[in-house]
Amino acid sequence: MTDRYCVLGNPVAHSRSPAIHARFAEQCAQDIRYEAILAPLDGFAATVAQFVAAGGKGANVTVPFKEEAFRLSTRRSARAERAGAVNTLAFEETGIFGDNTDGAGLVRDIEVNLDVALAGKRILLLGAGGAARGVIAPLLDCSPASLFIANRNADKAETLVGQFSDLGAPQGHLLRGATVEATLQGCFLRGAAGPRVDAGNFAKTAGHSFDIVINATSASLSGASLPLPAGIYAPGSLAYDMMYGKSETPFLALARQQGAARLADGLGMLVEQAAEAFLVWRSVRPETAPVLAELRSQLSA
Ligand code: ATR
Repeated sequence: MTDRYCVLGNPVAHSRSPAIHARFAEQCAQDIRYEAILAPLDGFAATVAQFVAAGGKGANVTVPFKEEAFRLSTRRSARAERAGAVNTLAFEETGIFGDNTDGAGLVRDIEVNLDVALAGKRILLLGAGGAARGVIAPLLDCSPASLFIANRNADKAETLVGQFSDLGAPQGHLLRGATVEATLQGCFLRGAAGPRVDAGNFAKTAGHSFDIVINATSASLSGASLPLPAGIYAPGSLAYDMMYGKSETPFLALARQQGAARLADGLGMLVEQAAEAFLVWRSVRPETAPVLAELRSQLSA
């Protein structure tokens, strides 16, 4: 019998997940149907309940429901607990299992697809919202030399560092006051044995250079570029935007100007987080390379 899965979001019509999972199912000979379902903003739980009642086996969850999916889960993976958000639900006889595959997707795209090791690297993470929080533990698990979290709003960066302080002790101080309103705030943490993690504002990144700069802000959505100081890109560095689009994002355009050696958008992360969700549901990991290549050519067509 065909097993049903879906992606729940609002909006959701633009989602590429149905196409991705259809390819995965074909490739792995899995008898599944995967559709996009628009959940009303005030009706996420009811939409999930309806889907379960109709025989749904699992769901991906996208904006703006990841925190609500977290709360709805009756059992969660350690990585979902860390992220405070759920992007993958599995409907079990005994309840709802919540997982978060976003961080694993990002790490796999960087390390496998882009062939850039995270171990020993100086990483700058831009943003302190849900997207940033979801990837911090998976990044720290890869033993970078340091992780600097920079955000427009300093308090949010500081809170995030506090939440992950068991993975690396906070170090350094937030710079406040001297920042102009367009300036991002940020913070470093350094563990006894683990990586150094810090938070501060965008201006605080001045004077530091990084091997990997990851944009987890939603600034690209509004076409805004971030006020990043010159000199943050070390020789050979990678600029990674978790967003993607038909044309280069403002973050990647600026990174190119500022001398990043390599640029990557979030299309690979999208496909990798989907593969990880497919693995959770079907216990088989699909090949992502052909699916990513197909999506890339569709995007540039
Ligand atoms: P998401 O779940 O996508 O992370 P979010 O939790 O609303 O969404 O977080 C959005 C992030 O993008 C925040 O870090 C936000 O910065 P603030 O915390 O200072 O609001 C950041 N962001 C959005 N637009 C931005 C812009 N134009 N410039 C800088 N940062 C921006």
